[in-house]
Amino acid sequence: MERTEVIKPQTLDDLIKILHKIFESDKVNIEEVQDIMEAYESNPQEWSKFAKFDQHRYTRNLVDEGNGKFNLMILCWGEGHGSSIHDHTDSHCFMKLLQGQLKETLFQWPEQESHGDMVQKSQRILVENQCAYINDSIGLHRVENVSHTEVAASLHLYSPPFKQCQTFDQRTGHRNSVKMTFWSKFGERTPFAATLSQENN
Ligand code: SIN
Repeated sequence: MERTEVIKPQTLDDLIKILHKIFESDKVNIEEVQDIMEAYESNPQEWSKFAKFDQHRYTRNLVDEGNGKFNLMILCWGEGHGSSIHDHTDSHCFMKLLQGQLKETLFQWPEQESHGDMVQKSQRILVENQCAYINDSIGLHRVENVSHTEVAASLHLYSPPFKQCQTFDQRTGHRNSVKMTFWSKFGERTPFAATLSQENN
């Protein structure tokens, strides 16, 4: 099927408006969302108010609640920060690089009874403005900023939004349920107690 021409969002606000429009429909067109997110040219002046870094771990910063249809957030990765291997709770996950580079490692779901190393399917480096996509039928992933000198920032869209996911131990395949929390919401730091349970990093 031919890909329709993508309208280029001029700003982050513009991108958010277009995403709201797209998600009015109940059916998610993965290619359309991925193309639109990739077409937005990252401009730090537009998103730096949301991008709050922590010294010790990556942070999740909520930008927009997408009328309940999606959550849009900026993840800030200090040097060497990474996520655990995790699933996406049956949601769509779009991940666009706003700054720097991130390594994405894809894994197979472990067999329920397995106790050994998890099987790695692929690995790639995502570069600025690129938009990756994953869901549970594709597999599990871990995301890392492997740079020792550069931070990274990525824009994530999850639809439907979710508050919990499963993380996996690479050596055994054993899983844990973890709550996902926000370091900040709409540019404001979340009260400390609310971020204590963030465990995916
Ligand atoms: C990731 O995809 O590694 C980030 C997961 C998250 O905290 O949303």
